[in-house]
Amino acid sequence: MASTEGLQAFEEENLLLSLPKERGWAARYFYLYQDFWCPSTHIQGVNNFQKHFQAKHSDVLVASFPKSGTTWLKALTFSIVNRQHFSSSENHPLLTSNPHELVPFLEFIFHADNIQDKLSYLSNMSEPRVFGTHVPFPSLSNSVKDSNCKIIYICRNPFDNFVSCWTFFNKIKSNSLPGVKIEEALEKYCKGIIGFGPTWDNMLGYWKESIASPNKVLFLKYEELKEDTHFYVKRVAEFLDCPFTEEEESNGDIENIIKLCSLERMKNLEVNKSGTVDRNIEKKYYFRKGEVGDWVNYFSPAMTEKLSKTMEEKLSGSGLSF
Ligand code: A3P
Repeated sequence: MASTEGLQAFEEENLLLSLPKERGWAARYFYLYQDFWCPSTHIQGVNNFQKHFQAKHSDVLVASFPKSGTTWLKALTFSIVNRQHFSSSENHPLLTSNPHELVPFLEFIFHADNIQDKLSYLSNMSEPRVFGTHVPFPSLSNSVKDSNCKIIYICRNPFDNFVSCWTFFNKIKSNSLPGVKIEEALEKYCKGIIGFGPTWDNMLGYWKESIASPNKVLFLKYEELKEDTHFYVKRVAEFLDCPFTEEEESNGDIENIIKLCSLERMKNLEVNKSGTVDRNIEKKYYFRKGEVGDWVNYFSPAMTEKLSKTMEEKLSGSGLSF
């Protein structure tokens, strides 16, 4: 008789064979799984997350399309919900752990086989549990949708998002993959062939849900969070039903959280300068420039026209603009 793991591997292989596939630039192939593109290595994790994850009403999900400011929002959210336990200055877990270690991605938790170990790890996490996910809204596990858990989504102007993807994936991609030109990478991006893409579908799924269920999904933009971080930190706390008191505000607690989670502070912490996280990715690669408008240093006029046209086509009528 086949072992459970053998059976699972067999089922996964059959699943992969049945899915449309395209060559990528950040991974050799992307598979179209439940209407989003995914490297084969992520499908098992997404599948297990959908089958096994049991959300608690107090859970918080930080959702995003990759390279949209996930690391920052994870750090801010963790600090906001845990502010009673940790002062921002001393002994704060963010001083000794990377945000992705404190706020793990659900699809990567379930990446490996030993589901029972994962479930007991999850049930032992202190509440409120804060998780990350790149999975599009329609593909979240039913238990996330049916529970009262809250979702904060962050998106970013696709021009800067593309550049952040381009620089990041060039650093982490395997040497065995052929190099591609930036124009080719943009072609794929515009066709939506990138992990958890198309970008616009990922954004629009959460955008629509934030309009339909504003108490369930809070939709943020990286640019706005940068522009007025104080306002949005307060907004996140209100959304999560843990608003800052006047006393906390006058004590400077909001400013302390903002300073602790700033790019400069995070980037220069020893814990984020070396070592790896998740799928063996160097932690330092998560912190680059964090600038709005860096895309102008990478885009030719033809590339600008291409992405502008694609965005117009994909976002028109949605009410979402950049
Ligand atoms: P750039 O590549 O434009 O510099 P993600 O966290 O979703 O992977 O997104 C990474 C982007 O967020 C990178 O953008 C990175 O520099 C930026 N970033 C990481 N930490 C940040 C922080 N604390 N504040 C602002 N931006 C941050």
